[in-house]
Amino acid sequence: MQAAVYRAFGGPEVVRIETVADPVPKPNEILIRVRATTVSAADWRLRSLQVPAGFGWIVRLVVGPFSPRRPILGTELSGTVAAIGPQVRRFAVGDEVFAYLGARLGAHAELCTISEDGAVLHKPPQLSFEESAAISFGGVTALRFLRDRGKLQPGEKVLIIGASGAVGSAAVQLAKHLGAVVTGVTSTPNVELVRSLGADRVIDYRREDWRQPGESYDLICDTVGVASIADATPLLTEQGRLLLVAAGLPEMLRGVWVSLTGKKKVLSGDATGTAQDLEDLKRIIEAGAYKPVIGQVLPLSRIAEAHALVDTGHKRGNVIVTVQRGA
Ligand SMILES: NC(=O)c1ccc[n+]([C@@H]2O[C@H](COP(=O)([O-])OP(=O)(O)OC[C@H]3O[C@@H](n4cnc5c(N)ncnc54)[C@H](OP(=O)(O)O)[C@@H]3O)[C@@H](O)[C@H]2O)c1
Repeated sequence: MQAAVYRAFGGPEVVRIETVADPVPKPNEILIRVRATTVSAADWRLRSLQVPAGFGWIVRLVVGPFSPRRPILGTELSGTVAAIGPQVRRFAVGDEVFAYLGARLGAHAELCTISEDGAVLHKPPQLSFEESAAISFGGVTALRFLRDRGKLQPGEKVLIIGASGAVGSAAVQLAKHLGAVVTGVTSTPNVELVRSLGADRVIDYRREDWRQPGESYDLICDTVGVASIADATPLLTEQGRLLLVAAGLPEMLRGVWVSLTGKKKVLSGDATGTAQDLEDLKRIIEAGAYKPVIGQVLPLSRIAEAHALVDTGHKRGNVIVTVQRGA
């Protein structure tokens, strides 16, 4: 099969299309013919090793001290089931699915395997393959942070920083679905997009600072890594929560101390997705309350360009890569 492979860490140019062996499903696995996938912020970080402060050596140990251990990136996908192992019961050949591979990676390829008990579900019929490919990375992260870590309640006031990114655009929609009053922070070209996602108020960070004294929020969710604890906690209500999606290690440790010594909580960490999270997102999609935002769509042959778009740090929603077997 054709796959996008990186054999060294570096810029978008290290990603090349190669022919590699087709994966073979184990007895409990399905083989998916990938129709679409995304280049996410995780792919950018793993490829470039540009990671939040304090995580450099940990990431290097995990992904490979000298060269990438898993040379095919890609955390999420949509596609059709091409073959099934003999123990598989939930899926049949031809089924349309979407899946979250997360840290296992491997979606930037024509074919990919996953356990039928993994984070894989039938594709929501109301979404295209391109949209379905982008459900999981942003959706799971936003859901895990807002609902599980932040315990967002109906009627609460939320500030979402980076409201047009993959995580932020999902967070705006999911926060509205959870009944919150949402303010989104974005730049001028994305103000209308964020409003269309349901934000009650939009702050254009090029014209206005969200750190205005006098404002108060029950929950602040920073998906960018621009909010320091010192900046954000004065804007929180007495029992407010600050969610740091892209925090470095020093800020995470400061957050633990602030949470232990006061009523305000600073919460961070990773957001691994499960099949249950995908079920929850699918239900929200079916209720018409979540639809992944698509910025650009490029074919697998142009995946290095897709990486370059993600590297800017200013992509709109998700960068989709379409995959056609034998193209
Ligand atoms: N903790 C976890 O488990 C977890 C999971 C997933 C992702 N992440 C991290 O979350 C971060 C966001 O991921 P993503 O996929 O959403 O990235 P993304 O799609 O590239 O979004 C980044 C967003 O940041 C905005 N932005 C850039 N500079 C800004 C500023 N100064 N103020 C406000 N907004 C600004 C951009 O909007 P404009 O173009 O309008 O500037 C863009 O929409 C990444 O660092 C990723 O590594 C963490």
